[in-house]
Order: sequence, then structure tokens, then C-alpha cells
Amino acid sequence: MSTMLEDSTAYDRQQDSYAINNGVARTPQMGWNNWNSLGCDVSQDLLLDTAKVLLDSGLRDVGYQYVVLDDCWQSERGADGYIRHDEKKFPNGMKYVADMIHDMGMLYGMYSSAGEMTCAKFEGSLDHEVEDATTYASWDVDYLKYDNCYHMGRFGTPKLSFDRFNAMAKALNATDRPIVYSLCNWGEDYVHTWGMSIANSWRVSGDIYDHFNRPDTLCSCTNPADPHCVAPGTHCSVMNIINKVAPYVDRGAPGGWNDLDMLEVGLGGMSDDEYIVHFSMWCALKSTLLIGADLRKLTPKTLAILNNPAVIAVSQDPLGRSALRVRQDLNVKKDKYGQGEVQIWSGPLYPHDQLLILLNAADEELTITTNLDEIFVHEGPEGSAPQVKLEYTVHDLWADRMDERQAKKILAGDLYKHRKEWYNSTQTSYREGLDNNDERLLGKQVGSLTPQKPELSVSVPRHSLKMYRLRPQGGATTRYALHKQEL
Ligand code: GAL
Repeated sequence: MSTMLEDSTAYDRQQDSYAINNGVARTPQMGWNNWNSLGCDVSQDLLLDTAKVLLDSGLRDVGYQYVVLDDCWQSERGADGYIRHDEKKFPNGMKYVADMIHDMGMLYGMYSSAGEMTCAKFEGSLDHEVEDATTYASWDVDYLKYDNCYHMGRFGTPKLSFDRFNAMAKALNATDRPIVYSLCNWGEDYVHTWGMSIANSWRVSGDIYDHFNRPDTLCSCTNPADPHCVAPGTHCSVMNIINKVAPYVDRGAPGGWNDLDMLEVGLGGMSDDEYIVHFSMWCALKSTLLIGADLRKLTPKTLAILNNPAVIAVSQDPLGRSALRVRQDLNVKKDKYGQGEVQIWSGPLYPHDQLLILLNAADEELTITTNLDEIFVHEGPEGSAPQVKLEYTVHDLWADRMDERQAKKILAGDLYKHRKEWYNSTQTSYREGLDNNDERLLGKQVGSLTPQKPELSVSVPRHSLKMYRLRPQGGATTRYALHKQEL
């Protein structure tokens, strides 16, 4: 028989919001957001034209489902407390946009801020959470990015921020519409310790910018535990964000993810190799994956990064476990910014595979060497992990990148002809594809590792990476199974 106390606890729990169980974002959410390339230049045409590109280029099929409108869509809040949209930018209203996007088989996202104003100084949602959540639900919105500007001083401790963001979580849950809830408080107030209780993702950094590793005073917080870190800011480079999240990247799990910020791939500030690093790491670290480029100007090269199913299968992996860093070597050639390092990342993939990334952020080409002991160090140090006793085939996940000619044909309107080669995750989920050993998800076999020959040594060009899926050969492979085998 349950006691009164137990009953009231159960009641409180129901009243609380546990967005991590709201059924959405079981894998990191994928889509597009206008902010990185277009800022406030938003309109109905932009959203609908972009949705069409996602569809026609096959990007929707590989997983980019959410078309997310960022700041600057609002006009005034009415005397009734309800927010109005800008009628010039969205002449048919927001529900019309949602309907059109839904008709194309995609989902629709919007933006607000847990403040009296948004960052671009439009109406925020602070203390209007219920009206705004109700409005979004009535527009059939599927995703809310919720920012952190102008919060009227209600921050500075995890509890203050938690309460402010929880107000919207509760309001969204009360609508009964499954809405992805994406916090954007830039890593403040240790959001990586509480974000997963109420949200489907949480930003861990100030805004990204289109540079690989240049330090910028506007992005002051390299270490979020630094008590003097008062301004997560903007202009955070790809390497800055990777280093920031490295110590707590394991906090993501199905339903709630670290958000390393939107992709810069295709904006033009980085080399092709650097964009591959950026994209691969966002997949390996299980970040949300929102394209930031203006897709109306999508180039074949950019398409052939964003659509690699073998790499996206890492992002959408059913285990939902981030790769972890197993090595950071700072003793390498530095560039003009004083930056340079080598990193090795490793982590489990469904069903019993292992991801391995050799990242060369040094200012020169390098040979990077690792071995099974290091790759599985998080399963047991000094070669004590059971996995080091197995044999693996090694598969390069970038070897089958779509060639530019084919990408060009697709952008010219030829997708239909390429349907067979195309991975369509709307028909076959990544899990099913992996269960079927679909070659498009497995990359190209380039070698093997065995307990007798446990070492891998590869030349990695400057500012690039090698990304491998290791597949154990034959029989029991999980740690648990191995232990049972030994008994
Ligand atoms: C920032 C946010 C950006 C973008 C911008 C809009 O705070 O981090 O991603 O949403 O506001 O004003």
C-alpha cells in the first residue's frame, strides 16, 4: 500500500516536466536554422524555398527534418498577452508555414528567449510562457529554440536558470504537442548538469563562428568551470567548442543532447578539410545537427559533406553515446594564432562497433599512431579492457564521400535518378540499416587490427581527420559477453 508521501511525490513528478521522456529527439535532432548565414533576414519565402532544397537535394531523406526559424519573426505582443508575427515577413501567418513544411514531410521549428526581449530585441517569452507555448502549439510548431538574452537578472546559479527554463518546459508539456525543446543558454549555470531534466538539448557554448581555431576575445569562456567566465559570447571556433565540451560530453543520451551550436559547413570561412572535421566531430559528439548555410546557394562540395550517410549514422547511432577523448597532445607545431594540437577520440557504436577519430589540428601533416589499448582505454586502462583481445576490421567513413559530379547532378534536379544510391532514412532507419549491414553506413574497409598487430599508424593532413568504424570479427563482443566467455 502506498503512503501519502509516496502519492504526493508521484503527483509532484507528474507536475514536473521531464522533456527527456517527451518522446522526441531519441537521436540528436537534425535540420536547418537560418541564423548563421542570414541572421534577421527571415521570411516565408526563405523557409519554404529552403524546405524545398532539403527535399530536392535528398538532405531530408538522410535525416535533416527540422526547418527552424530563428530570431526576428515577431512583431508586438498584443494587449491580450499573445505574441503576433511580423505580417510583412510572413504574410500568410506561421501556421501556413508549418502546414507547407509538414506537407513536404518535414517538421517546423521556431525561436524565442527566456527573457523580456530576444537577443535581437524582439518580444521575449519570460513570464509569458503559457501564452507563447499555447500559441506555438496552435501553429503546429514541432521545435522551440529557447534563448537566454535579457533575463532580468534571473541567472547566476543553476537553480535560477533551471527555474526560468523549466517554466517553458512545463508550458510546452502542457500543450500535449510533442515539441523538441532546445535550450540556448550558452552553457551558463552548468546547464550540462541539469538541461537533460527538462529539455531535449542544451547549448554548451557561446555562438560558433566560421573559423577552425582562431581564439577571439568575444568568446572568452574556454573552460565553463572558470569562475571568471562571465561572457560565453560569440566568435567561438570549432576547436574552442570541442575543447570546451570534452570533459562532459557524455552527458547527452537519447532524448537530450549537448548542442555544440549550428553548423558552419558551407559558409566559406574554413577549408573543405576543416569543414569535414567540424561536421564529423559534431556527429561523433552527438551534438544537435542543424545546417547553418544558406541552402539556396548550396554547392556540390558542401552537399557532399552534409549528406554522408556513413558519418550521419554515427550521429544517429541507436546507442546515443558520445565518443570520448582519449588523447590530447599539445606538443605539436603551432600556427600564427599559437594554436595546434592532436586529439584522438573513441567511443561505442551500435551494435558492438567502435568509433575512432584521429584529429590533426597541428599546423602540419602528421603521422598519428594509436593502438587497441588506447582506443579502449575508457573500458579499462593499461590494456585491461576485454575489447583489446578481439580482431577488428577498420572502415574509413569518409572514403565513399559522394563525388562532386554526382552532387552537382543532384543539385541540378537529378535526385530521382540517384534514388537507389541514396540512403533514405525516412524509409529505413539508421538502426535498421546497421542491422542489415547496409554498406552505405559502414564506410570502406581499409585495414584490420588484431591483438597481435594492435597498432594503427596513419598520415593525417593538416587540419583534417581520419574517422573509422572498427567492427569486431566473430562472436561475442560486448564487455559483458566477453566476461561470460571467460567464465
Ligand atoms: C543568440 C543565439 C544565436 C541566435 C541569436 C539570435 O543568443 O546564441 O544562436 O539565436 O541569439 O538573436
